[in-house]
Order: sequence, then structure tokens, then C-alpha cells
Amino acid sequence: MEYYELLAKRRMYRHFSSEPIPPEVLEKILDSATRGPSAGFSQGFDFLVLNQKPALEQFWNLALTPQWKEETTSHKGLWNAPVVILPLANPDAYIQRYTEQDKDYSPLQDKDHWPVPYWYIDTAFASMLILNSVVYENLGALFFGIFRNLACIKKSFQIPDNYHPIGAIAIGYPSSSDVSASAKRGRREKSSQFHFNQF
Ligand SMILES: Cc1cc2nc3c(=O)[nH]c(=O)nc-3n(C[C@H](O)[C@H](O)[C@H](O)COP(=O)(O)O)c2cc1C
Repeated sequence: MEYYELLAKRRMYRHFSSEPIPPEVLEKILDSATRGPSAGFSQGFDFLVLNQKPALEQFWNLALTPQWKEETTSHKGLWNAPVVILPLANPDAYIQRYTEQDKDYSPLQDKDHWPVPYWYIDTAFASMLILNSVVYENLGALFFGIFRNLACIKKSFQIPDNYHPIGAIAIGYPSSSDVSASAKRGRREKSSQFHFNQF
């Protein structure tokens, strides 16, 4: 698939079949997540990969209420996805990396001195690579927020306290008739979004 064709095809899906993803395909998708940049090459992101039924059920039971599952039309079948990945940002990996000798000139040993939290940026970059690889593999994905029971989800999957899920990515074969949000809302006019030489 050609690169710009891939970008044009990328969109979120919210309905999946439960057909499993071949392990070698999942492996390639996961490998792609390690190809992104990271500040100081800290690589301070991990991934909790849920690909077994009991773990997936446990996740969805905590993340969604039965009532919401019953009532939603926009996300019906999201929970059929055979894989859910939680990208986990780890700030401590960055603080530690910036105390190493080649970085000791920098003020970034203290978390409060970071102009933006690079651990979230890098984890998001890695997530974007997953989303793009999913398109390349003719699968579909949804990046979504975890709005419920986050502490409980961390505890039940033994995610250490200092690792922060930035959301979750459901991946599967889209059984989709849903129209993407970007198609419904339209993209912004480029002339209003790109500011050449001054804002
Ligand atoms: C940080 C982030 C959080 C998102 N959270 C949700 C979510 O909780 N539920 C959902 O259905 N979509 C979620 N989305 C998907 C967006 O709605 C979607 O990317 C956007 O509407 C553009 O549509 P497209 O990706 O299909 O082009 C999220 C996307 C991002 C980047």
C-alpha cells in the first residue's frame, strides 16, 4: 500500500467481528509501535496487550456499563474486537534517562521542568504507528478513552502505579457500515489551520 493512500484510508472503526487476528500480523503491528521516536530515546512506554477472552471480558466489564452496551448504537460491537491494547506512559523512565551522564546538562531531571509531558507524546506517537499499521494490515481500530474504573483496571491487570494508560486501542476486522466521524464533520480548511511565517 502506498503511504499517502494509507493515510487517506486511516479512520476509526467502532464495530468489529470477533474473528481472531493472525499472530504474525499482530506481531508486526506491535513491532511497529517500537519504531517511533522518543525524547532522549527513553522509550518510556509499555503496552498491555489483551488478546485472550477472559482478559478482554474483564476489561470491557470494567470499562463499560451493561446499560451503555445495551443502549449504544454508535459503538455496537466494539467489544467484539479480538485485541485491545493499552498504551502505558511511564514518566519515571524519562526522569531516569535525563539523569544519565550525556543528559546531565539538561534541567529535565525534575518532572516539573518538562515543557510538555514527553511521556504522553511518545506514547501517542507509538499509538499512531499502531493505528497506521492496522490500516496496512487491512484491519480496523479505535483509539478510545478509558473513562470508568481506571484505578480498578490498573489493579486488575497489575499495571504498576507509575504507568499511565493514555487510552486503549481496539483492533479487529471491522464489520462496519458506520461512517467515520471525520467524514461526517469534515476536515478543517487548511488555510485556517496552517500558519506560514506568522500565526
Ligand atoms: C485522544 C483521542 C481520544 C479519542 N477518544 C475516543 C473515544 O473515547 N471514543 C470514540 O469513539 N472515539 C474516540 N476517538 C476517535 C476520534 O473520535 C476520531 O479519531 C475522530 O473523530 C476522527 O475520525 P477518524 O479517526 O475516523 O478520521 C479518540 C481519538 C483520539 C485521538
